[in-house]
Amino acid sequence: MPGSMKVSRRSHVPPFAVMEVLAEANRLRDAGASVLNLCAGEPSTGASDVVRRRAIELLEHGDLGYTESLGVPALRRAIAEHYDRWYGVEIDPARVAVTTGSSGGFLLAFLASFDVGDRVALARPGYPAYKNILRALGCEVVELDCGPETRYQPTVSQLMEAYYDGGLDGLVVASPANPTGTMILPAELDAVAAWCTDHDVRLVSDEIYHGIVYGDGADGPAAALPTAARYVPDGAVVVNSFSKYWAMTGWRLGWLVLPDELVGPVGALAGNVALSPPALAQHAGVAAFSPEGYAAAAENVARYAASRELVLSRLDDLGWSRVAPADGAFYVYADVSGDGLDSVTWCARLLAEAGVALTPGTDFDGVRGGDWVRLSFAASPSTVAEAVERIAAWRRTL
Ligand SMILES: Cc1ncc(COP(=O)(O)O)c(C=O)c1O
Repeated sequence: MPGSMKVSRRSHVPPFAVMEVLAEANRLRDAGASVLNLCAGEPSTGASDVVRRRAIELLEHGDLGYTESLGVPALRRAIAEHYDRWYGVEIDPARVAVTTGSSGGFLLAFLASFDVGDRVALARPGYPAYKNILRALGCEVVELDCGPETRYQPTVSQLMEAYYDGGLDGLVVASPANPTGTMILPAELDAVAAWCTDHDVRLVSDEIYHGIVYGDGADGPAAALPTAARYVPDGAVVVNSFSKYWAMTGWRLGWLVLPDELVGPVGALAGNVALSPPALAQHAGVAAFSPEGYAAAAENVARYAASRELVLSRLDDLGWSRVAPADGAFYVYADVSGDGLDSVTWCARLLAEAGVALTPGTDFDGVRGGDWVRLSFAASPSTVAEAVERIAAWRRTL
């Protein structure tokens, strides 16, 4: 009977609460309201001119057929050189797999690393797609309750506990993280990586916000950033993307740095799942690693830094006494429980009454997310400034 056929249990992943906020924001905007969108986790600028120019040339004269499943050699080489340039880590381009955004990279890395029933740990709060993809693949997700005392990052003692509780096959870390923006300290990453190697636990490190760092890290891109690329020979997988630092969200381009044993499996899976990553994005993406490409990205980071300062200087007016330390990325994650509303209601009312869209923490934390909201300051500085004014004024009406 039409409509009654089986739908797989694995596809029952929870929808993002932010999509409802976005839909309502769009509805209000279409009805003529002035709406400021600070819920999207994406830069407002788009790709740099050098990448766009290259894309135009390629559209007119390029060969845009299927590419190698693991990506075009020029891009794999450029990515490998990036590790030398930023971190002083030598990476063989053969270990680099170009993917369809980091999202496509996660799917391939998880498929190649884990079997049904494997236990994979990750921090709560955290980016929801990790656990939703892992569950859809039949893995058991072990959520580690992470708080301010560890900068919302997992620790070795939590891993030990999870390990003795039922074994552990994998760990996903993200630094800087979404939604908190917090970073794992270099010594802690060393300890976590060494523990993973000793216990045959596959470390998957999401480094999508590398380069977008503030404070001590701001004097050079990624100067203070620990990368798990050093641990790839020991079995770690690094995931990264053009979406955030290079502001190329819709180009759907990301990459993995893989240990030897995963290169073949990821190549075979990539060929079967998608044949190849998008050709236009790959060929044009090489230009992101040019001096002009890096300079444009650094300008964006300077803009985020100004917006971040602005938000942090108004925390008292916003009533946000508990915020995660926003070391990097472009988020402020704040506890709004003092306002007496759960975060979904808080966000819905803020949107309806003040025209500002933020993301409720429930998307990132199924336990405590009702107390928290995420503000993205990746929008233009003037938008962020006006949004802060509106939120402060709206709070006075509560
Ligand atoms: C922490 C984190 N990882 C991965 C992604 C996925 O990004 P993409 O697939 O565009 O590379 C996002 C997107 O917001 C993110 O915040």
